[in-house]
Amino acid sequence: MLNDAQRRHLSDILQPASPPRELSDIFTPEQHRRLLDVVHDQGEWKLIIAQHFASAEELIATFAGGFPEGFEPTLDMFLTPTFRGFYGNYSTCLYPEISDLFYNQTFLGHAKSYWGAEYAKPQMMLFNVNGPCGNNDPGHLDTPSFRGIRYENSPTWLCSIMGRSGLFQDYMIKMAQVITWFSHDPASGFTYWPKGPLSQPARLQSPIYNRGIVVQNEMLVHRGEANGPIERQRPAGLGFDSVFTGEKGDPDGWVVKTGGEVIERYRTEDLRFLVHWSAEVFEDYAELKKNMDGSDNLTYDRVFETLIKDVRSRGIAIDTPTDPMRDPAFIKALNSAYDYGGPAEYPVDAPRGEVYAAAA
Ligand SMILES: [Fe+2]
Repeated sequence: MLNDAQRRHLSDILQPASPPRELSDIFTPEQHRRLLDVVHDQGEWKLIIAQHFASAEELIATFAGGFPEGFEPTLDMFLTPTFRGFYGNYSTCLYPEISDLFYNQTFLGHAKSYWGAEYAKPQMMLFNVNGPCGNNDPGHLDTPSFRGIRYENSPTWLCSIMGRSGLFQDYMIKMAQVITWFSHDPASGFTYWPKGPLSQPARLQSPIYNRGIVVQNEMLVHRGEANGPIERQRPAGLGFDSVFTGEKGDPDGWVVKTGGEVIERYRTEDLRFLVHWSAEVFEDYAELKKNMDGSDNLTYDRVFETLIKDVRSRGIAIDTPTDPMRDPAFIKALNSAYDYGGPAEYPVDAPRGEVYAAAA
């Protein structure tokens, strides 16, 4: 467990390149409809947690170490009916009907201006969609990438620690997201901690309908907020394998299915629909070139050496591992050395979710 000064040091690192910028009237109604149509017609979309963990057992095992002695996490605690799908990835649009929205000149302009940079390219675009839904997320960072060590081919835990350490800023891939919400809920906003998670939170005020922000979510602790009537936030029959899709023949009808059976229905106006677009940004041609030719890449050896040195310089003991990528004791020790302990404060109208509050 870190002391207050050590936690404050980590919190101060977590500040984005610029404060989040608010946008409004982001998509036209016709563009919004096209984005929804892909969700409606092109798939059965899995729960977000089902995309990060292979099974319910793996999910529980991952979180178990983070809970106090005697507190037994169950799948039920993590199960919220939020679904996700990708519109584009690796700078490639997956659905031609929205390619103008992925290769979006206006968004590229926002990304460049946010960083004061010369160049940008779209990287990824996804949606999160749900009806009434609780939210147990205490606040998180999106996983960053670095020249030579990218999230696509390196363990998430390592990229995440590298980001939180603040030691590899010169190598971090500059990114900007344009995040847009479509939600009529009068009390469901977006919380973020612009001066670090141990400082005051800020909030994008609800209702957030066709409004959003330009941000650097890899260095800004943030979370969505719960929405909809509490009694509908957890449909009966929701499971790890539940999917979300459109109701056939009704463009504004939506269903949640478990094992092929419909367990919940929503109308478009009940949804909280989030469109996340992200770009990689290059300050100037020299930076673009370093990314192209790999002439200034980090190596794993250098990263581990830097981390170990930093941990020890902060007065925390850590053993030199023989297999740093796989040594569970080492990974755990690094994780605790860069664990600021969760945000200190939440907005009065959007308190911390139940599960984590119970476990704290
Ligand atoms: Fe996020």
